[in-house]
Amino acid sequence: MAILVTGGAGYIGSHTVKELLAQGERVVVIDSLVTGHKEAVSDGVVFVQGDLRDAALLDDLFAMHEIEAVIHFAASSLVGVSVQQPLEYYDNNLIGAHVLVSAMVRHGVNKIVFSSTAATYGEPKRVPIEESDPTEPTSPYGETKLAMERMFRWCEQAYGLKSISLRYFNAAGAYPDHSIGEDHKPETHLIPLILQVPLGQRQHITIFGDDYPTEDGTCVRDYIHVMDLANAHWLALKRLRETGESGVYNLGNGTGFSVKQVIDVAREVTGHPIPAVAAPRRAGDPAVLIASSAKAQRELDWQPKYADLKTIIQTAWDWHVRKPQGFES
Ligand code: NAD
Ligand code: UFG
Repeated sequence: MAILVTGGAGYIGSHTVKELLAQGERVVVIDSLVTGHKEAVSDGVVFVQGDLRDAALLDDLFAMHEIEAVIHFAASSLVGVSVQQPLEYYDNNLIGAHVLVSAMVRHGVNKIVFSSTAATYGEPKRVPIEESDPTEPTSPYGETKLAMERMFRWCEQAYGLKSISLRYFNAAGAYPDHSIGEDHKPETHLIPLILQVPLGQRQHITIFGDDYPTEDGTCVRDYIHVMDLANAHWLALKRLRETGESGVYNLGNGTGFSVKQVIDVAREVTGHPIPAVAAPRRAGDPAVLIASSAKAQRELDWQPKYADLKTIIQTAWDWHVRKPQGFES
């Protein structure tokens, strides 16, 4: 039996594929390469290039490979873009999930681990955020992810689908041997953008807003290493196999770092002064997002191994130094 990984050529998906292989799993990847990279997919994996919304392709794929469970990463995932292009987000994320789950039901596959997000919470009422806290997304992106979580729960009642939704906070870092890492084009995430300065690819990093109600006025986020996320997917799969219990789990380190603090740690790691320039706020950014991951630690037996921000940025830096233009270089 194999695990079907949708979006397995993307950033978090490709790291999770490596973790699954290390755990002895067989893996089939479907990815359209709209933002992913074929080079990120490990050897020893069956790779199918195609769009998740292609029901006939999914039927072939489920018929050809004995799929036990699905790990679902494939999505459009930029908060800001989703505000400008909500219909594209509803199309790719919700129709994608609908076509995928319909195929799972047709082919008798009843386990799914899902990439959800801290963006399901919107502006939190308190931090650290717990899974039972209110979910009031402030972007179409967060809205579609929450709708997918709910779709899976309704499908449990109707078809017996078991789901674990993992609400990640801010993914960062790279595989420790630097063979794969983050490569989004265009890049919008803070850490890779900061590292473009010492790489000589940009003059300065722009800080989006220094008037937030935080200690230094910049947004606070909970950064989590991509391999700690990858490991959580395998543990979630294990829990579905062992208990058959669906659930929702936050994944973060439980510590918040401001944009200015992240820049300071990057200066320390790279030895570069990294000039920073303050600019207006970016639409849709909550001031502070910090996870309580106590539930994941308790129920999934999950323990982050790369919790230190310096280690997270060091692994990202090692990857970008090796591949300054990403997978193309
Ligand atoms: P990514 O863009 O690197 O990966 C997504 C992958 O899905 C890409 O390889 C892309 O080509 C593929 N894809 C997209 N639409 C597809 C479709 N219709 N059919 C087939 N393939 C398709 O993104 P990522 O940063 O690795 O994020 C992975 C998942 O995690 C996403 O669902 C995202 O919403 C979620 N997430 C990411 C973060 C983060 O900090 N990066 C945080 C929370 C949640
Ligand atoms: N930021 C800057 N300058 C930049 C880029 C980002 O100041 O050039 C700031 C943002 O305003 C934000 C913080 O850095 O305050 C982090 O921004 P990212 O774009 O790196 O990440 P987001 O918090 O916007 O979003 C990420 C994922 C989402 C996920 C969310 C969960 O992209 O999918 O984390 O917290 F939902």
